[in-house]
Amino acid sequence: MKNGREVLSNIIDTQIPIHEKYGGVVPELASRNHIEAISRVTKKALEEANVKLENIDAITPTYGPGLVGALLVGVSYAKALAFANNIPLVGVNHIQGHIAANYITYPELEPPFLCVMMSGGNTQIIYVKTYTEFEVLGKTRDDAIGEAFDKVARVIGLGYPGGPKVDKLACEGHANIDLPKTHFEGDTLDFSFSGIKTAVINLHHKMPDINKADLCASFQKTVTETLLENVEKAIQKTGEKIVALAGGVSSNSYIRKEFLTLGEKGIKVYMPDLKLCTDNAAMIASSGYYNYIAGKRDTLDLNAIPNLKLN
Ligand code: KG4
Repeated sequence: MKNGREVLSNIIDTQIPIHEKYGGVVPELASRNHIEAISRVTKKALEEANVKLENIDAITPTYGPGLVGALLVGVSYAKALAFANNIPLVGVNHIQGHIAANYITYPELEPPFLCVMMSGGNTQIIYVKTYTEFEVLGKTRDDAIGEAFDKVARVIGLGYPGGPKVDKLACEGHANIDLPKTHFEGDTLDFSFSGIKTAVINLHHKMPDINKADLCASFQKTVTETLLENVEKAIQKTGEKIVALAGGVSSNSYIRKEFLTLGEKGIKVYMPDLKLCTDNAAMIASSGYYNYIAGKRDTLDLNAIPNLKLN
């Protein structure tokens, strides 16, 4: 990554075929496969970028949040590489990385803005104040939105990873099934997705012949309405007129289309290129660049933190 915005190489080494047969990520298998992949992937990234290690100004591993075993592989490898080559080490928060996917897609985008972070492990509305300062305005109190997509897909027999499969099937259906939305009392922008997940599971068990495409379309419509309701409250609260999407679930075609309607209310909406929505190294390197120029440096004490918070 050059100057935080220009991608020189972005190697994706997917483990989906390995985990597919178990219906979800198996943590132990994930870390073992990370160990096997990391040297090969690093070499390929340098080759494709046509740079040598001595041209690298900073090594920027993700140190959380995430699965500890997988995080440890990256952190340990990065520490060894940084130490052996005398290159500064700069840790990156995974969520911060997802936000930065927008900087790569939109060279003109600068903070401040609101970001709706939606992934397999997180759902948050984040006030991005600067490249390195964030305030979480609302978050899920139970399941992440991606978890709900994956669970719905599994229960109705679509397989893993569920999000893209629900997205595809929903295109053939009509959102004609009423599903519950959770609202909390008081002035909160928090979410809950466990209720709708359970409602879909119960409906499918009670009515095995229910039209799956309609169920997927209704699920997507209801969760998108929930997201938009809270985002509109966040816009009112902060006065911000820019909303960016981030995380794997932001590749959902219905969510992307519906968020664009905020444009009618004078809101500018940004969404990363599809290949930058799901986990990738370029977004982490972009964040690493901004941490680096803000003066952040880590020592060899850097450790993986599975539940790392933003700021
Ligand atoms: O951000 P991500 O790659 O990984 C982390 O959780 O960090 O997000 C993965 C999540 C999975 O739950 C996956 O099912 C979901 O993103 N996802 C989608 C779509 N593509 C990926 N969910 C809904 N619609 C999609 N098109």
